[in-house]
Amino acid sequence: MDSFLTTVSTLPISLTSWQRSPFVIGPPITQPCQFFGRDYILKRVFDVWKHLPLQHIAIVGSKRSGKTSLLHYLRRIIDTPKEELRPDQRNDWLAPGYQWVFIDFQDPRMCHQEGVLRHILNELDMPVPAPCDLASFTEVIELYLEIPTLILLDEISAGLAAPELDEQFWWGMRFLGSNCEKGKIGFLLTAKESPEKIMLDDNKPSPFFNIFGHVFNLGPFTDAEALNFLNHSPLPFTEEETHWVLQKSGRWPALMQIICHSKLIALEEQSSGNQWRTEAIKRITPYSYLLGKKP
Ligand SMILES: Nc1ncnc2c1ncn2[C@@H]1O[C@H](COP(=O)(O)OP(=O)(O)OP(=O)(O)O)[C@@H](O)[C@H]1O
Ligand SMILES: [Mg+2]
Repeated sequence: MDSFLTTVSTLPISLTSWQRSPFVIGPPITQPCQFFGRDYILKRVFDVWKHLPLQHIAIVGSKRSGKTSLLHYLRRIIDTPKEELRPDQRNDWLAPGYQWVFIDFQDPRMCHQEGVLRHILNELDMPVPAPCDLASFTEVIELYLEIPTLILLDEISAGLAAPELDEQFWWGMRFLGSNCEKGKIGFLLTAKESPEKIMLDDNKPSPFFNIFGHVFNLGPFTDAEALNFLNHSPLPFTEEETHWVLQKSGRWPALMQIICHSKLIALEEQSSGNQWRTEAIKRITPYSYLLGKKP
């Protein structure tokens, strides 16, 4: 019995027994049930993708505006069962049957052409040719691609800065998005600037970017979305505190998460007074560019 207990106690903690943090500060939101708002953009994006040929979308937003969280939500929401969502969330935006590829250009492996091409084929469960160059990759896609496929490109500026992802590579991507397999490939990219501005600023000619006909800007939450976020907080806010959080955060999710976390810590430590507000203001100051102020 003793040895059984010893064995059990040395087992790693089961992931399902981990509690979700009430507030997420720093990393993007990856669990759909922790994602709030963005109804307008979700509706517009999914409306575009209801039809073939799939069209291409750019999401433009400042640093920390919530771009990566949105990408994770897009690729996971359709296949997340209702039981894993909040009651106010829907998962019927699209009929099931799409496949998704997520490419984070901040991942060092995604700075190499072969790394990107291999990753796409692996995610789509397709054979990886050797060598895996643009020509053999395109051939595999043309042979095997049947299901509508959405390729999400996070932080495209990092991809553009990678010397190995040259003009020919972006022409290859453009081919996938415009000629390949009867419009069954749709791209969505995130960037801090619009595709037209990227095309002007980038010193590599970027033929890829003029296929992005739909551009959505990522702003703060609406009032209703921000209130919904606060209503799901494990700690109740007074009316005055709610007003203060909305005002100081400008309804930006990243800032709301930080401020709510400060308040949660204060409650846990049973500290009264306004120290949590001072702390919260200090923590959000580096992001004051979101509020249109100089940090
Ligand atoms: N829809 C959302 N619901 C709840 N919290 C969110 C949401 N979107 C973003 N956040 C919060 O904002 C923070 C920043 O989000 P995210 O990392 O997605 O932004 P980003 O624009 O990709 O940032 P960066 O430019 O640094 O890559 C997250 O840590 C999370 O706390
Ligand atoms: Mg990001």
